[in-house]
Amino acid sequence: MKVLVIGGGGREHALVWKLGESARVEKIWCAPGNGGIVAEAECIAIDAGDVTGLVLFAEKMRPDMTIVGPELPLVKGVADAFRARNLPIVGPSQIAAQLEGSKIFSKEFLLRHKIPTAKMYGVFENPEEAIAALKDVQYPLVMKADGLCAGKGVLLALNEEEARDFIDAAMRKNELGPAGRKVILEETLEGEELSFTIVTDGDRYASLVPTRDHKRIFDGNCGPNTGGMGAFSTDELLPDSLRETITQAIVDPTLHGLAADGIRYQGFLYIGLMITTSGPKVLEFNCRLGDPETQAILARLDCDLAEILQDLAARRFDPSKFHWKSGASVCIVLASEGYPGKYPVGKPINGLTGVTTKSGVKVLHAGTKLVGDVLTTSGGRVLGVTCAAPTLDAAVTSAYAAVNSIKFDGMQFRRDIGTQAGLAHSAGD
Ligand code: AMP
Ligand code: GLY
Repeated sequence: MKVLVIGGGGREHALVWKLGESARVEKIWCAPGNGGIVAEAECIAIDAGDVTGLVLFAEKMRPDMTIVGPELPLVKGVADAFRARNLPIVGPSQIAAQLEGSKIFSKEFLLRHKIPTAKMYGVFENPEEAIAALKDVQYPLVMKADGLCAGKGVLLALNEEEARDFIDAAMRKNELGPAGRKVILEETLEGEELSFTIVTDGDRYASLVPTRDHKRIFDGNCGPNTGGMGAFSTDELLPDSLRETITQAIVDPTLHGLAADGIRYQGFLYIGLMITTSGPKVLEFNCRLGDPETQAILARLDCDLAEILQDLAARRFDPSKFHWKSGASVCIVLASEGYPGKYPVGKPINGLTGVTTKSGVKVLHAGTKLVGDVLTTSGGRVLGVTCAAPTLDAAVTSAYAAVNSIKFDGMQFRRDIGTQAGLAHSAGD
């Protein structure tokens, strides 16, 4: 089997890693890949958002299956373009990807199908009306730009001044581009977050092991939001009763709602939940796997991912083929100095040799680039040190031991991923 993976972050490295373990996979291309993926797949210099380039490549090379990592190509319609050319692909259609591509689409979907979510104060296209609405809201207030904003589109405003600043930046100064022209205001939910991911062919679905992300940059959930500074997975995150409630109150109505709206959803669906005192509520849908959640999820995989996804793309999906290692896993993200703000690139990375196979640790690359034979940083999130073990404590200990031998100039990481301190949650983390 020849497989194309679209994307070039830690999530895609994890996909390449697991697909490469399958006896049926003989070739993997990754577009564009990164400095770590290049050792496990052939990296192709096509941006993940370049749908035309990806289609031309796939028409020429005819991969037996394509898996899409990031949201941008999905929202741009890559899955439709591939299917129209009989190229098997795992990923939702452009219309289905609106669940992530438009917060308004997704909120209206949730309300229409009575799926528990934060109360909405309103949708605004006009800054004056949005400001006028602020007199009837409670703080903290959650404000969301409608479109894709690479993680910068949600603000938890603590007071009216912060709320006005967001409206000004997004709607008057266009600082978020067209994605920020429309804004949703909603209630702030409190509780613990849970990333619940399913994969479906539109008829059947399987849920992947549960994970928790750590979104803030600093220990104890302080500082600005990031794409995710680390994630862990253990079955204890999801007791049977909570799984049951999520299935009945959220997953089933979501899949029925999609079908009722005439949308066949095929691919991964990430359901970001807040577990509140009145039950789980949907914070967001993503039309793809999470990053760094995928690294923790796939570290626990105990089956042939390529076989399962090939079946899925051919609409013969068999959820019972998924098997997971018991125990736990963790992924600790090593980031560049300054991230999630401006950061330097091109810093040499040292200490990776020797880490890889020790104690089941796998270093998954995100923003790395091979320049000659020197591995350098090329992004905000640089590496994800990933480990599965019989207990969460053991996974965390081994992963941090590996982290300690890796070095690059300005390297920052959280020291509380998967620990009690890292679990302390406040609204909006
Ligand atoms: P989103 O872009 O919708 O994925 O939201 C990003 C993050 O903002 C979520 O993972 C939560 O941490 C936070 N968030 C979004 N909506 C809410 C809400 N209604 N209440 C509290 N936190 C929220
Ligand atoms: N880690 C959150 C996300 O992938 O959206």
